[in-house]
Amino acid sequence: MQLTQAQLDQFHTEGWLFLPELFTPEEVAVLREESAAVLARNREEIWREKNGAPRTAFAAHTYNEAFSILGRHPRMIDPVEQVFGEPVYMHQFKINAKAKFEGDVWQWHQDYGTWLRDDGMPEPRAMNISVFLDEVLPINGALMLVPRSQKHGNLQAGHDKQTTNYPLWTLDNDTVERLVKDGGIVAPTGKPGGMLMFHGNLVHGSAGNITPYSRRIVYLTLNACSNYIRKPTRPEWIAHQDFRPIEKVADDALLKYARSHRQAAE
Ligand code: SIN
Ligand code: MN
Repeated sequence: MQLTQAQLDQFHTEGWLFLPELFTPEEVAVLREESAAVLARNREEIWREKNGAPRTAFAAHTYNEAFSILGRHPRMIDPVEQVFGEPVYMHQFKINAKAKFEGDVWQWHQDYGTWLRDDGMPEPRAMNISVFLDEVLPINGALMLVPRSQKHGNLQAGHDKQTTNYPLWTLDNDTVERLVKDGGIVAPTGKPGGMLMFHGNLVHGSAGNITPYSRRIVYLTLNACSNYIRKPTRPEWIAHQDFRPIEKVADDALLKYARSHRQAAE
């Protein structure tokens, strides 16, 4: 799948790109079902909120077939390879639950801030590309982005280990206010199957979810192979160290899996 010139221009100027309903309801149904099973498991890769609800499931692509296919899907991999102009490997894979009533905040941050400081990633030549598993609404903790903030490079950040159970390099309020005066805030919303990609230096965050609607999103962090991490400090299942290019599956692989999975259940 190739992005159009207009889509590339939007990404390079604004720092983000949203493609609504890129995956079909049939494809996303199997991911929704499998994510519920993954998030219910008790494994060290599944981190919980302070209130006990699941927050983030790391590395499900290593033990779950549906997510393994998603992690090699051309609709996820091709756009990022197109932007970087080289093959990519999987730096991180996570399902963020943002559980109904209980999902906690993600403070304002830049992803590259963590990849640089915690993983020794040389350049911001990695990015998050995500698929909505639930409908993302303005009210259930939609991801908020500060357009054009990626142009400011890597900003000063503090290591916040207190606010949530997920240590994060976060930005101070003055910095966020200054950047928002320039770029505003957008919060892409839409049905399950929408795909959002954003620059590693784009400032973003999300509020807690006090609604009865869960907001699950899968994030692939794809890193340009030449930009492999040099000083890992986090476990391998958080910041992977297999720097080989992702071998893509066929575009219909997820659909085929969904159909065979459904037949097996009938
Ligand atoms: C993130 O910034 O890594 C996740 C934010 C979210 O899922 O709301
Ligand atoms: Mn982030």
